[in-house]
Amino acid sequence: MRNVIIAGNWKMYKDLSATSELVEGLKTRLASVPPRVTVVVCPPFTSLAAAGSMLKGSTMKLGAQNMSQHDEGAYTGEISWNMIRSAGCEYVILGHSERRQYFGEKDELINAKAKKALASSLKPIICVGETLAEREGGITDRVITAQVKGVLAGLTRSDMSSVVIAYEPVWAIGTGKTATPAQAQEVHQLIRKLISQMHDWPLAEQTVIQYGGSVKPDNAAELLSQNDIDGALVGGACLKADSFAAIVNAVK
Ligand code: 13P
Repeated sequence: MRNVIIAGNWKMYKDLSATSELVEGLKTRLASVPPRVTVVVCPPFTSLAAAGSMLKGSTMKLGAQNMSQHDEGAYTGEISWNMIRSAGCEYVILGHSERRQYFGEKDELINAKAKKALASSLKPIICVGETLAEREGGITDRVITAQVKGVLAGLTRSDMSSVVIAYEPVWAIGTGKTATPAQAQEVHQLIRKLISQMHDWPLAEQTVIQYGGSVKPDNAAELLSQNDIDGALVGGACLKADSFAAIVNAVK
């Protein structure tokens, strides 16, 4: 049975005091989770260090929402792998559709960031997903194939053991429209097949593929019960301790 990773992407929400409140709430509600479930919280950069110290000794892990492909240097406004690691991060979300859409990130850059994360012992949660126009145009498979091949290019078998993929259909993010479990399962299966073609089946079988896009307490169990859905990347519903904990507890 594959591991399950439930991650909360806080996006650009929560200042320091709201961070303490949410992390405290999660620590009480998620004091014990089944061993095959990993819970990751991904606050904004300014809250990472505070959340990192609050999470010491808990089973929850810390992740950042982005990082630079460079080690250090004159890159105003950027954040390096070393900075997020020293704040306590084990994970980093890369290539989120909002990074692609508003900040021009392309597969090649996301691939460079993934390589840097892996070389720095961070586990990248790499996002892929089609837009509504692409789905309606019948090119979902083509788009996902190009993204998966692009973001994973050149990664070794051992790199892949630290990689998490998040399938997030852009049309389902923040819209309240969730992909049906069958629609999500179909794309997850495709992603697993692509990984098997780039590597092999045993590796593809072990890769954690999360679904993201309007995951809520009332749809989580059904999505997570699909064969190839191994977790969730949660936006809106992770901002309240009750709803995020309910999603974690929906894992069977
Ligand atoms: P929502 O859960 O708000 O749709 O956001 C999903 C997402 O983008 C997580 O990264």
